[in-house]
Amino acid sequence: MTAPAPPREVVHRYQPLGAAHALFHSRGPEVLLSGPAGTGKSRACLEKLHLLALANPRMRGLIVRKTLASLGSTALVTWREHVIAEALDAGLVKFYGGGPQEAASYRYSNGSVIGVGGMDKATRIMSSEYDVVYVQEAIELTETDWEAITTRLRNGRISFQQIIADTNPDVPNHWLKRRCDRGATLLLDSRHKDNPVLFAGGELTEAGRSYIGKLDALTGVRYQRLRRGLWVAAEGIIYEGYDPAVHLVDPFDVPKDWTRWVTVDFGYTNPFVAQWWAEDPDGRLYLYREIYRTKRLVEDHARDMLAAVTDADGVWTEPRPRAVICDHDAEDRATLERHLGMGTAAARKGVSDGIQAVQSRLKTAGDGRPRLFVMRGALVERDSELDDAKKPVCLEDEIVGYVWAVKPGAGGDLKEEPLKANDHAMDAMRYMVAQLDLGGRTRVRWLG
Ligand SMILES: Nc1ncnc2c1ncn2[C@@H]1O[C@H](COP(=O)(O)OP(=O)(O)OP(=O)(O)O)[C@@H](O)[C@H]1O
Ligand SMILES: [Mg+2]
Repeated sequence: MTAPAPPREVVHRYQPLGAAHALFHSRGPEVLLSGPAGTGKSRACLEKLHLLALANPRMRGLIVRKTLASLGSTALVTWREHVIAEALDAGLVKFYGGGPQEAASYRYSNGSVIGVGGMDKATRIMSSEYDVVYVQEAIELTETDWEAITTRLRNGRISFQQIIADTNPDVPNHWLKRRCDRGATLLLDSRHKDNPVLFAGGELTEAGRSYIGKLDALTGVRYQRLRRGLWVAAEGIIYEGYDPAVHLVDPFDVPKDWTRWVTVDFGYTNPFVAQWWAEDPDGRLYLYREIYRTKRLVEDHARDMLAAVTDADGVWTEPRPRAVICDHDAEDRATLERHLGMGTAAARKGVSDGIQAVQSRLKTAGDGRPRLFVMRGALVERDSELDDAKKPVCLEDEIVGYVWAVKPGAGGDLKEEPLKANDHAMDAMRYMVAQLDLGGRTRVRWLG
């Protein structure tokens, strides 16, 4: 038998700059890289995890995000293509798929393991112990999630145990920011100049100009947070009562006897939005599915909408909606009706009474629960162009930045009218609530 060939030399290039450099040297128990979009936060966290796994045999690490599904599309691409690419090629790291009880993981030839998981599938990850955990987009977690993770940090294979995390900023009173403010977590401010893809020798690169250009086109609170990296609240926010900890719920199987509704807001350059709502026996609404896409024709959306509710034989897999409630574009409505083979109803379009009706549903009732919920992961497919432009990709993204318009030249007074930007899921949600809460008969047009 011949001895296995010694591993060839593996060359990996990465230089941590600025806050990323500080992250590499930090050994404190909790460190957060906070900053605008695209500064290299996730890359830095992944690089540190990989380096620790190589240097400390039998180390156990974890890459985690609120939902497993959201992790796959983002961090893991950077992980596989930029961070561990050479180690994978050289056979120093192998991927194991995991199963219902076990998280997927990357296993190193020195015995180190890095698991991959979502807090929505917590049993797969929370029964293990770790040396280092990387939390991506940490603002999505609850503080209870965060603290649960810290209790798993006791594997003892390296001299310190650490939770490292990254995020874009959120509201200034977010639990994570407060945790940093009181000193429990170290906040490192990550900046665009820390990313050599965007800046070289203090000057914007070609790629940097194009990327920063997209961020410069953002408005309002998204500009402040994603371009400038500031923890700011939106001014004049319309749905102040919205709280992800209250209104965002984990997915569940909607009982067959709950009434279903579909609402539609048309768009092509702006996103087209279709929302599926389920109404429980007490009249509470749950958004359980959402299509939010730019640059597709109505007939293609109709096909996607039918695909979501029927099996390969075209048989409905869930109850048909009581109505498909649309904004008023006559031509788009006719096209949608033709391709769905269903009638549609015109939405009640009154903006201010519709907004008031949504506001009152968001309030918690006597039992501590609101009358409107959004299921995590309701979005069918992320629109990558919107993602790249850092625009909202779903209802949860829009609702926190939906603000009153500012009257031009009038000393910044707020007009009683919403700002007409990033309001597409907001309109579709308003149509739903107006349908149920603002009396009057539905005008349904049936196809002959
Ligand atoms: N030091 C570096 N050297 C080379 N490439 C880098 C470096 N830092 C970041 N990059 C690259 O820049 C891109 C953006 O980095 P990354 O995804 O880590 O940003 P981010 O701050 O996490 O962004 P977001 O706020 O959108 O989550 C990635 O392709 C990453 O590989
Ligand atoms: Mg990131």
